[in-house]
Order: sequence, then structure tokens, then C-alpha cells
Amino acid sequence: MRYPTTRLRRLRKNELLRNMFEDVKISSNDFILPIFVCEGKKIKRKIKSLNGHYEYSVDELIKHCEYIKNVGISSVILFGITRKKNDDCSTSISEKAIIPRAIKEIKKNFNDILVIADLCNCEYTKNGHCGIVINGDVHNDKTNEVLAKQAIVLAKSGADVIAPSDMMDGRVKIIRKKLDQNGFENTLIFPYSIKYASSFYSPFREATNISVSKFDRKTYQMNYKNSENFINEVKLDINEGADAIIIKPALCFMDIIWRTKQLYNIPIISYNVSGEYLLMNSNISNKYFDYEKSLYEAMIGLKRAGSNAIISYHSIEMTKIISKYD
Ligand code: PBG
Repeated sequence: MRYPTTRLRRLRKNELLRNMFEDVKISSNDFILPIFVCEGKKIKRKIKSLNGHYEYSVDELIKHCEYIKNVGISSVILFGITRKKNDDCSTSISEKAIIPRAIKEIKKNFNDILVIADLCNCEYTKNGHCGIVINGDVHNDKTNEVLAKQAIVLAKSGADVIAPSDMMDGRVKIIRKKLDQNGFENTLIFPYSIKYASSFYSPFREATNISVSKFDRKTYQMNYKNSENFINEVKLDINEGADAIIIKPALCFMDIIWRTKQLYNIPIISYNVSGEYLLMNSNISNKYFDYEKSLYEAMIGLKRAGSNAIISYHSIEMTKIISKYD
């Protein structure tokens, strides 16, 4: 290649040429919407840390699902907000818990919504940890037992996908085994295979009343100053039966998304987390910032990096933005 015979700008000369060679596509099918479900009736309560998002009681959740279907979103990931917290993880394994009830109701009302159940205990423990704490740390194998029980309850209630976000070693293996033994061999598992101990989760923790001051999660969530640890995390989960994997956070970790794409043949879902939403959304009325175009560009970036799908608090607004800019 040599200038002036080669002039790269020729291929960008007009819109027809630019459009012809575009190879990154985005559609509303790519988006999975996180929804927070609370106890009670007729509740639609603003979430302070996530502008534009609400916690819904189950009856209101159904109305919200109708709305999201109408705008073109068909996949959701559910999180529970509860006051019934304890440290033995018994809340999350009850069939009467908020999320199993929510899933049953969605499945009763819709046959065309994909329901992903986030599988973790931090929303339900008083200490805010993701599992059973023994001697000041989350006990890996005892937590796995709880997660497997919780997975069965979620599968029974109708969840299409179980998404363990706890970061215990070996949880996919035990969850897969227990699901299969109980007749749920077609329930999918999308583990958060790559989950960094990140500061970008704080609006989520505020939304779910998780007290962040007393602890950190660095003994189980990954160190973002290590650029190689993701390789074994993904390998382990694929070997144990993951159907697709989740990577989070997303926007500061596009290198990791891209490298995972090169190394493994498995669908990748990137999780554009609450802090990333906050960062973008806090500039929604900033006259020096083109919010819609910048958001579109960031989401295209996640697709270009290798994401097959994106979990995002921007999902609903993205359906509108896509129809405008695509
Ligand atoms: C549960 C869970 C968390 C998030 C998703 N699942 C919280 C955490 O690990 O602290 C965070 C998602 C977000 O920030 O949007 N373990």
C-alpha cells in the first residue's frame, strides 16, 4: 500500500459507499433489560440511583412487560428487592420469594419474553455478600449448594435462563448437574464468567439496598489489574456447561470482550452496568454532549468488540435510537 495510489478516503467518499462496507449491526433483539422487582402491590417506585428506572411490584411488572414488548424488547433479567434479609441465604431458596413469583406471573401472561434470572445472594443477605460467610469470607462450596437449590426454584418457576453472578468456582457444574437431575436439562445457564470487582456497580447496590461499606468482594470477584485471569474463568465455565457467558462491566473492558471472542467459540453477553448507565445518563441534558449519538456509538463499540448481546439499562431508549440512526 502506498500513497498516492492508495487513497483510503475514496472508500468513505459518500454515504452509499460507507453504508456498503459497514459490518457492525445493532438491533433491539440484542438488548436485555434489567428489571427490579419488589414486594407489595401497585408499586412503581423511582430508583434514585438509576434515573428513569423503577422498582415494580409483580402486578405493575406485568404492565411494564406489556410496554417493553410494544417497544421491541423481548428479553429481561430480573433482580429482587426485599426487606426480608438474613445471612443463611434461606430467603432466596423459597418458592415464595419475590423473583420466583415474578417469573411465574410473567410466564402466565407472556409466551414471548425470554426471562433470565440473576442467581446470587447479595440482594438477600444482611451482610451484603454473595453467599454463605464463614470466618470472614464467602465459603465456596457451601455457597454452591445454596446456588444449586436456588437455581432449581428459579427453573421450576419458569426461568428460561439461570445467570449465576456470584463468582464461586465450580458453580456452573453443580447447577447444571442439579438442573439435569430435576428434569430441567433445557434450562440454559449464562454465568457471569468474567466479573471484575468494580466500582461501577454502586448504583445497583443502592437500588437493591446492599450496604457496601462493610466489605469488599475482592476474594471472589476478579482483579481488573490482571489481564490474563479471564482466560481460565471462561475455560472453566465452558467446560462445566455454560451456554453463553456474561462479561461485566462492559465499557472499560472492551479489550477483554474482544480477546474472549478471539479465544472461545461461545456467545458473549456484555453487561453495561449501572455505573456506566449513570455516567452516560447524567449527561442527558448537557448541551455540550450529544447524548443519543454518543450512546449509540458506545453500544456499537460493544458489538464491534464481539458482544452478541448487551444487558443494559439503556435498552428501552436504544430501541428508539436504533430506529433513528440505523
Ligand atoms: C449480583 C449482581 C450485581 C450486579 C449484577 N448482579 C451486584 C454486584 O455484584 O455487586 C451489578 C449490576 C449493575 O451494576 O448493574 N451479584
